[in-house]
Amino acid sequence: EEDEEEEQKAEESSDLDTSSDDEEEEEEDKDVNKTTEMGEAKETTAPSQETEEKQGVKEEQQKTERDGQSEAKPAIFIPVDRSPEIQEARLKLPVLAEEQVIMEAVRENPCVVICGETGSGKTTQVPQFLYEAGYASGIIGITEPRRVAAVSMSHRVAKEMNLSTRVVSYQIRYEGNVTDETKIKFMTDGVLLKEIQKDFLLQRYSVIIIDEAHERSVYTDILIGLLSRIVPLRNKKGMPMKLLVMSATLRVEDFTDNQKLFRTPPPVIKVDARQFPVTIHFNKRTPLEDYTGEAFHKTCKIHRMLPPGGILVFLTGQAEVHSLCRRLRKAFPFRKDTSEAMRKFKKAKQKKTVSLPRIDLDNYSALPVDEGDEDREAGIGDEDDEGSDLDIGDDPGDAEEKADPSIPLYVLPLYSLLAPEQQAKVFRPSPPGTRLCVVATNVAETSLTIPGIKYVVDCGRVKKRFYDRVTGVSSFKVTWTSQASANQRAGRAGRTEPGHCYRLYSSAVFGDFSLFSEAEITRRPVEDLVLQMKDLNIDKVVNFPFPTPPSAEALVAAEQLLVSLGALKEPPRTGRVKEMEQARLSCPITPLGRAMASFPVAPRYAKMLALGKQQDCLPYVISVVAAMTVREIFVDLDRPAGSEDESSKLTQRRARLTQMRRLWAGQGASLLLGDLMVMLGAVGACEFAGCTPKFCEENGLRYKAMVEIRRLRGQLTNAVNAVCPEVGAFVDPKMAPPTEHQVVCLRQIVLAGLGDHLARRVQAEDILDPKWKNGYKTPLMDDPVFIHPTSALFKTLPEFVVYQEIMETTKMYMRGVSAVEAEWVPELLPQYCHFGPPLESPQPWFCSSSGTVRCHRSSTFFRVGWQLPAVEME
Ligand code: CDP
Ligand code: MG
Repeated sequence: EEDEEEEQKAEESSDLDTSSDDEEEEEEDKDVNKTTEMGEAKETTAPSQETEEKQGVKEEQQKTERDGQSEAKPAIFIPVDRSPEIQEARLKLPVLAEEQVIMEAVRENPCVVICGETGSGKTTQVPQFLYEAGYASGIIGITEPRRVAAVSMSHRVAKEMNLSTRVVSYQIRYEGNVTDETKIKFMTDGVLLKEIQKDFLLQRYSVIIIDEAHERSVYTDILIGLLSRIVPLRNKKGMPMKLLVMSATLRVEDFTDNQKLFRTPPPVIKVDARQFPVTIHFNKRTPLEDYTGEAFHKTCKIHRMLPPGGILVFLTGQAEVHSLCRRLRKAFPFRKDTSEAMRKFKKAKQKKTVSLPRIDLDNYSALPVDEGDEDREAGIGDEDDEGSDLDIGDDPGDAEEKADPSIPLYVLPLYSLLAPEQQAKVFRPSPPGTRLCVVATNVAETSLTIPGIKYVVDCGRVKKRFYDRVTGVSSFKVTWTSQASANQRAGRAGRTEPGHCYRLYSSAVFGDFSLFSEAEITRRPVEDLVLQMKDLNIDKVVNFPFPTPPSAEALVAAEQLLVSLGALKEPPRTGRVKEMEQARLSCPITPLGRAMASFPVAPRYAKMLALGKQQDCLPYVISVVAAMTVREIFVDLDRPAGSEDESSKLTQRRARLTQMRRLWAGQGASLLLGDLMVMLGAVGACEFAGCTPKFCEENGLRYKAMVEIRRLRGQLTNAVNAVCPEVGAFVDPKMAPPTEHQVVCLRQIVLAGLGDHLARRVQAEDILDPKWKNGYKTPLMDDPVFIHPTSALFKTLPEFVVYQEIMETTKMYMRGVSAVEAEWVPELLPQYCHFGPPLESPQPWFCSSSGTVRCHRSSTFFRVGWQLPAVEME
């Protein structure tokens, strides 16, 4: 039967063969002019209603005409030689049942949406469907919001299809294995966005699949917006292209019922999940601060008391993941000698079966509970007798003591930045006689399906970055996740058999969760996106078909910042109010902006890179930018220590780090570069020591961060060379410390990039309110901000500083502080200065009655807030 089907398919496709290949070549020969394309893009993103509609009708007609000629249809059916085991496993995946429906929809429509539970086979199978059906005339591109997924999925699909990684490849920010033969390409969404900048029509691709669209990552959203224009453009030009959007949830209205995005709503294909029931257990107690500890106890209990089956624990970040892994490994050591382990495991299991009542999986008391902490309200069952019979101490020390070390728990961490070899381990069968326990961050929520998980422990939290829209103050906060996310997490337990999900929070708290996670784009500054779009000649970003548009405020702020950085042309300052308003939101990009857009870092840092070649500062600027881009290069030493032993070690390390920071910051001239000098010193020292884990460990540096900085330095150097080949920058991991002269230059470059993050120390005589003691005034905030005690400049307290960002912890603290000289400001940041007579009634802390600052122009003060004291002309 199958053969017949395949034959039919083959016939069908040969029918369709109207030498679309040739046509494609012809198009290529024409060598589509980039600027016209851009122009068209511009036109299509901001068309008047009327033309848009007319165009739409015309496109529709053209499309049907073309369909008649079967242009958009695949040409060749390509057989795939899969191993019998793979084939068997595939057939069990729910998405296989929908292959016909999906392929038909793809044939008939330019865009198709596929919804299916995580694990239903979307990511691994849909690219294969397309490949087999002959859509690989160009590349089949799949975007993932996470690097982990891009890498691991490409390996998986290559293996399933029995093809080399030369054919099924991946590309992520730092690395890839794409070749000329590549037919299926997994990549991060950021990578595809960059490619659109180079070739707006994505001519090398025949299909683009946007995976994990439910995550609503910023790049995913933008890509869908762009592709909603690119696909019709390609079809119009006779180079048909397909777009597939895949989501793990059914909430896709933002894509489908969105007139701005798709005039004809794309069809939605639902893949039925083969999901086993998952029993949810809530905690009764008010959620604890120490959810990692709670997760530890719960995992221990599951392991000691419940039947075999993998455990998946959700925490919020890498550090937590490692700390829990350590604790679990200590409690249940895993021995390499598996036969011995197996024997003990069996014995232990027998013992357990004898001494304990049989545990009913679907019963509330399945997990022995001493304090009755499961929530009965949730209607999960109402007998906890059994639980109390089991009598397990809940005291942490107790649990650790009682833990039977003879039962091996095979503990594996999983998070985005984990090395790929390490990540791959979770997909391999765990050693016999052991129980798999994966401690993961959000990555395991939907992007990756780990086989054999029966128990999920969910801390209910997620680590998110929060921004204040006005001030840009950001903070990383661990917050409650959404109900949709929590349900996704629970679902991981029911892939292979009925499972259990233990939520470390009460059902009341769950009730307060938001229903869905917000689209990321609504929660963060968008200057980087706006710059990328301007580089695509989308001048009126407000008119871009975002699946969920960012706030107007955020767009205005972004445009203003980019104008200040010189990346966009300044809008006219005179004219009619309405026109000025319009112009303010559609500033075209400048050549500097183009260069900045080609650097894979935020615009403020891109500006620094663009200026970096001066005075041979480039290697230093690149290192500083790389260090600032990587979230945190120092180990977090503020966390409370567990044991006494650990506490004294921590004190030692703190002392050591303080000492090193002082050393790296240097004296005199270099000290004024402040925290950025510390970063630079750390990178330099680490490279001289060969960037070893040992060096990092001893000096309080995060090894992962240092490795990432090294990679990023290479990548940024290439990016700068591409824009500015005459500089001929090259990366020698080892660099000599900058000269005094270069440090001054670096401080100025930093000021030019971080100009809007300028702060001025409040002069003692101006302080009316004690809360301003040692405080700094920033343009947009009414409250003071401070230099952190760990900062290199804590004791120096320079009058003017720039900062990388403000993080709110116990106080508003500036991070990444660097001192600047007042006289640089009017020179380097004239856009923030107002040249004219002094303000009439400055607020008390704005004015300084004493001291003069030498300036080249008279009466300089900052437009946005504080003023420099008036000075005489030189
Ligand atoms: O994308 P979706 O969540 O719908 O499913 P998928 O990622 O395509 O996974 C389909 C199946 O392949 C799952 O049962 C995974 O466990 C399995 N898989 C695997 O065994 N090894 C991998 N590296 C990736 C997926
Ligand atoms: Mg997937």
